[in-house]
Amino acid sequence: MTETITIRRPDDWHLHLRDGAMLEAVLPYTARQFARAIVMPNLAPPVTTMADAAAYRDRILAALPEGMHFTPLMTAYLTDTTDAGDLARGHGEGVLTAAKLYPAGATTNSASGVTDIANIMGVLERMAEIGMVLCVHGEVTDGDIDIFDREAVFIDRVLAPVIERLPELKVVYEHITTRDAVQFVEGAGPNVAATITPQHLHINRNAIFAGGINPHAYCLPVAKREEHRLALRAFATGGSAKAFLGTDSAPHARHAKESACGCAGIFNAPYALESYIAVFEEEGALDRFEAFASENGPRFYGLPLNEDTVTLARSGTDVPERLDGEHELTPFHAGQRIGWSFAG
Ligand code: DOR
Ligand code: ZN
Repeated sequence: MTETITIRRPDDWHLHLRDGAMLEAVLPYTARQFARAIVMPNLAPPVTTMADAAAYRDRILAALPEGMHFTPLMTAYLTDTTDAGDLARGHGEGVLTAAKLYPAGATTNSASGVTDIANIMGVLERMAEIGMVLCVHGEVTDGDIDIFDREAVFIDRVLAPVIERLPELKVVYEHITTRDAVQFVEGAGPNVAATITPQHLHINRNAIFAGGINPHAYCLPVAKREEHRLALRAFATGGSAKAFLGTDSAPHARHAKESACGCAGIFNAPYALESYIAVFEEEGALDRFEAFASENGPRFYGLPLNEDTVTLARSGTDVPERLDGEHELTPFHAGQRIGWSFAG
């Protein structure tokens, strides 16, 4: 039985780092395991321009503890009035790696997002021309659509028509949660890929209500039925080059999660690789973990693979109930034991 596994250092293709004191608190967890990350722009106010992204990148690098290495890959938050020229300059100058589509009102700090996809069609055309990746939060926001159906309805109403119209556009369908999304991505052309979070591989929607309401299992898109979790596991571990690691680690202070209106987001950065590799082991797919974690993402984005390595050991990790610090963050798997540990 393999006792350790050494792979190329992974990247996180979907991450919330926040700003200020929270940024300082959470960045070391990601920088410890990952070489690079696609950094989400949903700050308040959001990161909408090349200049915003450059300034945010500087704040991230300033918050990085000495001796740690980490490259933030910046994204711009699309709005109804995004300037395609600014995006293209940002991309050309290496400031912006991707742009993020939040349907207005879909999730945390998405109020300034896009109200109708028609409003950004010119921007998407320009992105397709220059090869800039579109990252998508793929849920419709209509109050009359059941929350568990919002991803599937988004595919029919928004994503499929956009991809049909702009087949050259590179699209990452982020944090997919349904079999519908798996089937859509598998059936789409080579310019469409998906990220998958650890929580959507581990939990189904029962976890949110097990023994009472559990805000630490609540994120958006919300976890779905078991059949969807199983489809995600098969896709992530099945060897498709279209599936890659994106944690969607989304820290909120404990009081903001454990409240009458608890924030969406699961903070999984501290034990992200341990969490993912446990899934690959359970699925008998340890030999496919490196491609998912370290190869498929950079290949899709057209970036070099990392040259250094990380090692995971089959020695087990006891995940604490809470991480100390002013924000009292609750990590994913709090109070549980994972069968793997990060050996550096
Ligand atoms: O659960 C989530 N939390 N989903 C998102 O899309 C945003 C994120 C956040 O920023 O907290
Ligand atoms: Zn996210």
